[in-house]
Amino acid sequence: MQKRILGPGLEVSAIGMGCMGFTHAYGPAMDDAEATRALAQAVDLGYTFFDTAECYLGARADGSYANNEELLGSALKPYRSQIKLASKYGVQHVGHSLLTDCRPQTIRQAIEGSLRRLQTDYLDLYYQHRIDDKVEPETVASVMADLIKEGKILHWGISEANEAYLRRTHAICPVTCVQNRFSMMARWHEKLFPVLEELNVGFVAFSPLANGFLSDAFAQGEKFANEDYRNMMPQYQAESYAANQDLLALIRQLAKEKQSTPAQIALAWLLGKKPYIVPIPGSRKTKRIQENASAADLELSAAEIIAIDNALANIKMSDVFGGSPIKN
Ligand SMILES: NC(=O)c1ccc[n+]([C@@H]2O[C@H](COP(=O)([O-])OP(=O)(O)OC[C@H]3O[C@@H](n4cnc5c(N)ncnc54)[C@H](OP(=O)(O)O)[C@@H]3O)[C@@H](O)[C@H]2O)c1
Repeated sequence: MQKRILGPGLEVSAIGMGCMGFTHAYGPAMDDAEATRALAQAVDLGYTFFDTAECYLGARADGSYANNEELLGSALKPYRSQIKLASKYGVQHVGHSLLTDCRPQTIRQAIEGSLRRLQTDYLDLYYQHRIDDKVEPETVASVMADLIKEGKILHWGISEANEAYLRRTHAICPVTCVQNRFSMMARWHEKLFPVLEELNVGFVAFSPLANGFLSDAFAQGEKFANEDYRNMMPQYQAESYAANQDLLALIRQLAKEKQSTPAQIALAWLLGKKPYIVPIPGSRKTKRIQENASAADLELSAAEIIAIDNALANIKMSDVFGGSPIKN
């Protein structure tokens, strides 16, 4: 797969592998052996960028406990020198809400736990998972500077960053990239582009398929498991399918023209927007992991991207999931 420079000194595959869904938010956690095979296949396909977090926990169908970092630590150990591992700190799930804790002592504990579970002595990229209003940005950035000095992390990033927070932290310890929600249905962070360019910071696009909706693979009435977050996401509600008819028609038409699939169009559009954007779709299915990787070969011209942007701006669509509420 082609590579991209995400931020200074960090080269990754143009499409990264979002690993959250193996254990968290998309129904019972996957069987370890099957997930391990999927990850090995991803490496074979040229994915070099793997995304996890301390809080991607879940339960398997038999009720046993599943930990995303432990899964990746063991599955990716044979490939450690070929890949970039990214994890996140500072968030705990309580029901469908998030608790943030980015105090220095909490980050110190978190990095040791992540390194142990991931069976590595450094992370390529370590993200603050959410802004914690109780801790000054400069305090968080100083801890990141120390972890870099100690060789425990090579780069740091911020997930769901805003301009003010990015500027204040970047002044203390340069941020390599942000990781924010971004898809054809969630475009509100495009306003950060000029700031990212000014500061030379990359953009990792999470939930790039709008939690799978843009793949057009999930028909109205699709049954998800009880614990699957998609049951409560606005884009998957019955009335949203009608509201999103024009959007689905647009991506089906583009897929037909480009002899590709709707998911590939949604990913190629993100890649075409800026050279420093790296989408990290998540899938448990080997065929889809391959399909998503191939989106890196689908080039949309600047004129095509503008035409799609204009179409999207003029299309009515439903709300899209915007993230779990933060409760502190
Ligand atoms: N920083 C943050 O706060 C944050 C938040 C959310 C996610 N993330 C990261 O971003 C990654 C991706 O986000 P996400 O998983 O929420 O959303 P996503 O990638 O937009 O969608 C994932 C869903 O799409 C389906 N899918 C993927 N590729 C497909 C294809 N080609 N055709 C049909 N269906 C396809 C998957 O189902 P199957 O598994 O059944 O294929 C899964 O249900 C996560 O794994 C995680 O690493 C970060």
